[in-house]
Amino acid sequence: MDALAVSGNGPLRGQTFASGSKNAALPLLASALLAKGTCHFENVPQLADIRTMLKLLRHIGLEASMEQNSCTLHNPGMANPEAPYELVKTMRASVLVLGPLLAKYGKAKVSLPGGCAIGARPIDLHLKALSAMGADISLSGGYVEASAQRLRGADFRFDTISVTGTENIVMAASLAKGITRIRNAAQEPEVTELVVALKKMGAKIEWEKPNELVVEGVEELTPCRHAVCADRIEAGTLLVAAAITGGDVLVQNAQAAHLGAVIDKLKEAGCEISEAQENGGGLRLVAPPRPRPLQLQTQEYPGFPTDMQAQFMALLSMADGDSEISENIFENRYMHVAELCRMGAHIHVSGTHALIHGVPQLSGAPVMATDLRASASLVLAALRAEGTTTISRVYHLDRGYERLEEKLALLGAKVERIRG
Ligand code: EPZ
Repeated sequence: MDALAVSGNGPLRGQTFASGSKNAALPLLASALLAKGTCHFENVPQLADIRTMLKLLRHIGLEASMEQNSCTLHNPGMANPEAPYELVKTMRASVLVLGPLLAKYGKAKVSLPGGCAIGARPIDLHLKALSAMGADISLSGGYVEASAQRLRGADFRFDTISVTGTENIVMAASLAKGITRIRNAAQEPEVTELVVALKKMGAKIEWEKPNELVVEGVEELTPCRHAVCADRIEAGTLLVAAAITGGDVLVQNAQAAHLGAVIDKLKEAGCEISEAQENGGGLRLVAPPRPRPLQLQTQEYPGFPTDMQAQFMALLSMADGDSEISENIFENRYMHVAELCRMGAHIHVSGTHALIHGVPQLSGAPVMATDLRASASLVLAALRAEGTTTISRVYHLDRGYERLEEKLALLGAKVERIRG
């Protein structure tokens, strides 16, 4: 298993960039199941999760290939509608094939994803919605077995906002008979992007309200070509790298429209953020020597994203005062706290609340990554800490960040990958 050795090296300065969005690419790749023929997706990040999704789609029967950051998916029109445990257990987002398989092929056998480090991660709402659309659903041997002569439109409200739940149902509804109304739908940019691609494929989908989708099912969809947008969470992570080191950084393809709540909190922490007009835009952040403390609550989009919570925890561990974070989306998303405390942070967790007493300096230490965003927070803390931090189990980081060490090195960071 690889590790990263990160040495504090002063303020980061210069220009860097974010790769294509992992959480937009995964449902887009699954959408290729909905149409016979060949889909092309550009700006797809080279990540472990993407490779797993391509492997799953091949297992189902698609010819899936990836060259650099371009994916070509040929769907011959038949399918082995199954997502086996050995694939699903490595990537929960495999559940995104459930809706398309059921809608296109009338049946699906998908392993239950199981939990992960940050929570139980149930899919009960996905299944409830598909049942409302007429699917027969049974659970046995750790698998969901679903069938439907043809899904029918339904008026469904999500009790809890679910990103992949919304994505699964909007894909299923695209080929259902009749009208589906999805209430309390997730509004994340990755959902919006999937809707754009589905409409290119011929789906009839409209946002009736900011959190309500209406889908009129069609008889068939045709393949599309689509370029994936930049990863807003990676862009946010790179901005925090500038903020935690007191630097001055331009993230070339960061989109302000996708990062409103994050930008607000970075400004509250004392950073100046401006939209770059020249060379293709992006966001420039100029940071104070030390961040100001603040209160932070994670919410569904457009609120502050849970996927940026761990990164802000690292930033606030350096603030000149006490901060408070409330994690309202996942029940166990504080695995990074113990590791940050090993680096000298003073953080106390009680339930979903964390109280962070800012310290003037962190110190390098050997630490262990536990999940994707926790590993990012350890890298960020290490960029500011005195001395060298060795982060083990960076396969967690590689699930969601394409060559992060190279993007940080562009800014003067000292990050070395130790092959294990
Ligand atoms: C997506 O996960 C993202 N993953 C996550 O990103 C992200 O943290 C999460 O949305 C929240 O924004 C992908 O898009 C591939 P949810 P998802 O369904 O869809 C509960 C990362 O770091 N819930 O929106 O699985 C659930 O337990 C990853 O890139 C149910 O109870 O999240 C959670 O508390 C981590 N029943 C809340 O809803 C369900 O059927 C939100 O989960 C579904 C969800």
